[in-house]
Order: sequence, then structure tokens, then C-alpha cells
Amino acid sequence: MKFFEKAFPLFKNLAFSVDPERAHELTIKSMKMVGPWLSDDHESIFKDDCFRINAMGLSFQGPFGLAAGLDKNAEAVSFLTHLPFSFVEVGTVTPLPQIGNSKPRLWRYVEEESLRNSMGFNNLGSDAILKNITLSDRREKILGVNLGKNKITPNQDAAQDYAFLYEKFAPHVDYLVINVSSPNTPGLRDLLRDSGLRDIFTAVSLKRSLRPRPVLVKVSPDMSEEELSAVVALVKEFEISGIIATNTTIIKELGAGGVSGKILFEKSKKTRNFLLASLRETPQIELIGVGGFSKYDDLVDFWKNGGRLVQLYSAFIFQGPALIYNWEKKLNEDFKKVGATSFEEFQQSL
Ligand SMILES: Cc1cc2nc3c(=O)[nH]c(=O)nc-3n(C[C@H](O)[C@H](O)[C@H](O)COP(=O)(O)O)c2cc1C
Repeated sequence: MKFFEKAFPLFKNLAFSVDPERAHELTIKSMKMVGPWLSDDHESIFKDDCFRINAMGLSFQGPFGLAAGLDKNAEAVSFLTHLPFSFVEVGTVTPLPQIGNSKPRLWRYVEEESLRNSMGFNNLGSDAILKNITLSDRREKILGVNLGKNKITPNQDAAQDYAFLYEKFAPHVDYLVINVSSPNTPGLRDLLRDSGLRDIFTAVSLKRSLRPRPVLVKVSPDMSEEELSAVVALVKEFEISGIIATNTTIIKELGAGGVSGKILFEKSKKTRNFLLASLRETPQIELIGVGGFSKYDDLVDFWKNGGRLVQLYSAFIFQGPALIYNWEKKLNEDFKKVGATSFEEFQQSL
């Protein structure tokens, strides 16, 4: 058993006895302190090339990634890349530093292994986060950055924020994500509709032609099929590399903010399956799955439907590093069972 797998239950008892946001801050601080002292994980099965997934011109060591919002300021990259994540997404970063919404803004639903947050893109801003990124040890893992607009930027100027961030971060990361699906910045989700997103894609594409990098767009589970289809059409038109599905969902009865974890799973899965079907004829466009994954069977179901890369957030909070070590073990056993020598072969065997 790995050290962090053993230490997690004790750590969780402590962390869950304090306010959720305070616990989060303490966790990031601890990871930031320990991270640089950790060695690469030589025991990881993902050292073996058969688990590689080639997507968007990048080569991922395996299918598991960390979703945006956990390491908003890129402070714990050295720790997180020590775990069997093949990719870590930091941010959301906005051009200027932002304090976010008023507290409390993070709530736990322990029984349901779910969270609700109304953070509102609290982050140190693009200068500080870029510095953290350039100083972090990525251990040959893939690093993505999730981009958002400042709250004070009116929607009609949002494209400028995204283009500015693309230009600033593209030389330093492996992929970038246009995030217009957070429920916690007033009016942000309106940008998912055609003209807002078209303006953003136009501005970002201009910068992208000078410094090409994979770009994805992160969508909301609260969008209708018509709205999703409009996004897919734009993604195809602008040769966007992929879609991340999904962000958190609004459940009014629970209160302000967005809900993640098990409660989100079915809604998020429905969005993912619709998108996977819409993208069947364009395999060069990747669909990264996120939203409520908490069991290995959830992943198998996603892989059966044609998805490959998955991201975690809430399940990682409730189950800790043991979750990814277990999934790594299970995937290895499954590969052996069917004698797969590549992810494609494994996927075909499902
Ligand atoms: C506390 C918290 C903060 C988050 N912040 C961000 C963020 O800044 N940007 C973003 O794109 N997603 C953010 N998310 C959404 C996650 O990246 C993910 O899409 C969502 O939680 C669903 O995955 P899960 O069910 O595995 O948690 C946040 C989620 C949580 C719980």
C-alpha cells in the first residue's frame, strides 16, 4: 500500500472535522510542501506504453486526470503529478486576481459523496499562476490550464480575456480549456450560446494560429440538446480539439452554486453520451469525461460508449489517493484478462 493511501483515512478525519474551504486550503498547503520532495512513482503501471492514449496530438500515459478547480493556483502540481494521474488541469485562472464570492461557498454532502460550491473563480491571477506553473515539477505528465474571464469583464468583452490568457499560457502548458460553464460567475453560461462562444473562438483562434496548442471547451450539464448541438457545430467549425463534459449542475433546492459528485453523475452522463454520439464521425475531437465518476464501473461504461480520458474531483476528495491506485490496479488486471496491448484493444474488448 502506498504511503498516501495509508495516510488518507487519518487525514480525512482531520480535514472533515473543519470547515470545507479551510480543509481545502490546508490540503493544498500540505501538498505544496510535500510535493517537491516526492520522487517519480516508478511503480506506476503507466510507465508501460500499452496504457497510452493518443489524443489531440498529445500522448497521455493513462486515462485518469485531475479536474480543474482543485489546484486553482497551480500550487500542488508536483504532488498531484506524483499520483497516477496522467494529466492535471489547473485553474480556473482569470487575467487579474479575484477573491471570488462571499463565504461560506463550499458545502459537503457526505452521504452522497457530493459537494456544492459557489466559489466564483477565486484565484491569484494570471501572473502569479504562470509563475507557479513554470516552477512546478510535472514529472512528464500533461498539464492543462482552465481559462475564465474576470467577473468585472462584461460579457461583450469576454473574448479579449480568453485571447489574452491563451497567448500568455500557451507557451507553458500542454492544453488550454475555455471555461464558460461555471454557474458561479453571473451571466457566464450565457456565453455558451452561439454568438458569445463564436466571438471567443474567433479571438482565441487568431492567437492559436500563431502558437498552436490543443484547445477544449468545458460545457454545462444543464444545457439542452439543441444548445449542445450548437456548441458541437462551432467546435467543428473552429477545429477546437475537444469538449470537457461536464461542469457542476444547478440544483435550486440545495442552494446557490454548482453541485458535483455522485448527485451529478446521471445528468452529466446523459450530456456525455449525447456528445459522444454527436462526435462519432469526428474522432479527432476528444470528449473528456468529468462529473460524478466515483466507481470503476462508471469508467467502464464511459469507455464502452467511446470515451477515453476521464477527470475526477469530488470522488478524490471523499475517497483520496486510494481511489486512483485502485483504479490503476483494476485497469491493469482488466488489460491482463483480455491480453490487451493497447487502450484501443482494451476498449474493443468491452
Ligand atoms: C470546489 C470546486 C471548485 C471547482 N472549480 C472549478 C473551476 O475553477 N473551474 C472549472 O472548470 N471547474 C471547476 N469545478 C468543477 C470540476 O472541475 C468538475 O467539472 C465538477 O466538479 C464535476 O466533477 P466531479 O463530480 O468529479 O467533482 C469545481 C468543482 C468544485 C467541487
